Amino acid sequence: MELRECVFIDGVRTANVRAHAQKGWFKELKPDQTLAAVYKALFERNPKVKPEDVDTVIVGTANPSGYQNDIGRLAWLAHGYPERVGSQTVSNQCPSGMTATINAARAIMTGEADIMIAAGVEDMEKVPMGANMAFPDQFMQRYFIGDIPMGNTAEKVAEMYDISRADMENMAIYSHKNAHAATISGKFKKEIVPLMGKDEAGNDLLVEKDQWIRETLDPAHMATMRTPFKLDGRVTAATSSPLTAGAAALLMMSRKKADELGLSYTYKYSFGVQEGNDPTIMGMGPAVTIEKIIKKTGIKKEDIGVVEMNEAFAAQALACIRETGIDKPNAPFDKVNLWGGAIALGHPLGESGARIIVTLLNVMKTEKPDAKYGIATLCGGFGNGVAVLIEKV
Ligand SMILES: CC(C)(COP(=O)(O)OP(=O)(O)OC[C@H]1O[C@@H](n2cnc3c(N)ncnc32)[C@H](O)[C@@H]1OP(=O)(O)O)[C@@H](O)C(=O)NCCC(=O)NCCS
Repeated sequence: MELRECVFIDGVRTANVRAHAQKGWFKELKPDQTLAAVYKALFERNPKVKPEDVDTVIVGTANPSGYQNDIGRLAWLAHGYPERVGSQTVSNQCPSGMTATINAARAIMTGEADIMIAAGVEDMEKVPMGANMAFPDQFMQRYFIGDIPMGNTAEKVAEMYDISRADMENMAIYSHKNAHAATISGKFKKEIVPLMGKDEAGNDLLVEKDQWIRETLDPAHMATMRTPFKLDGRVTAATSSPLTAGAAALLMMSRKKADELGLSYTYKYSFGVQEGNDPTIMGMGPAVTIEKIIKKTGIKKEDIGVVEMNEAFAAQALACIRETGIDKPNAPFDKVNLWGGAIALGHPLGESGARIIVTLLNVMKTEKPDAKYGIATLCGGFGNGVAVLIEKV
């Protein structure tokens, strides 16, 4: 059986907002509603594609409980979409939205499906990180449980790879600066779906930009911030991704189907990998997955023009950049997170894997139209890195 090509037709997201019961701009929206907003936008922007034409919808969420319990199926039905279109939820921590995309691409490439939607969603206020979680007994015997929380893994990576607090703060500044510049120059307009929310005071607010981005940063203040994960540690709130809510979705199709419908496309899914690593340094996921892509495909590091690397923490992102040599050892970077990363844009866990592919496609098209390859990658709690390789057609 010959594999078919899978192309990206469109990708959208909501703004990423604070996951906070009072201050979050989506405090009155539930995760199915943010997800429905990105589906609606995909169909409005691509009128040649009808909901009933979609083979399957796959949604990633890191915590499939409460309002996110089988959200793939429930949100699709709740918002009036056809029952016969299959819809499901996948979950492998932060890479969930990327795993959804990989699964969708593989279904198209094998010929099992022609049109797929891959999405990611998370609201870390409505469904808090770790809610309803219990560890298997033998897991707790194998690992020291104090090493498992995400912030603790970031502290361990910072120590192991000798990432200084100053370098992390420099990366955070770069992340906010790039995200702010991309916002005010309108670069995110193509991907952010405006959605009505509430401001901090409870007034109506059309949410068109990411809530966490800081226009200015005070390096002197950052240097004095407490280290919440470890006494005298190095990782602070300023160098961590914040608690966030948001949704993102991609419309994917076989190249043949896209041509039949007369739809345009610039990039295709090329390759996707998952690689496990030690859960106590789970943040090294991007390093092991980038290396796996290079090894398995034979492409050269120099051929990768753009990298979207999820900044769960500056510590792990810097360690991964240095380990792989994919970019300069310190910010500002030439290829990595040119429009900012999760430290500034936020990180709604299961949403981010889909969000960084949406952004990667736009960054490639806008900033590096000559680049043949781009990589999107993120680490996952308990040591599950995932990455995809995108190729210009
Ligand atoms: C780091 C973390 C614990 C901070 O949470 P929090 O204590 O609720 O803190 P906030 O985000 O409200 O920020 C704490 C303080 O730092 C400040 N702050 C945050 N970033 C800042 C920056 N860049 N510069 C200056 N101040 C900053 C905030 O304004 C706040 O101060 P204030 O209370 O005086 O306003 C939380 O964001 C976290 O757990 N992040 C990681 C999430 C995670 O693990 N994701 C998965 C990754 S795999």
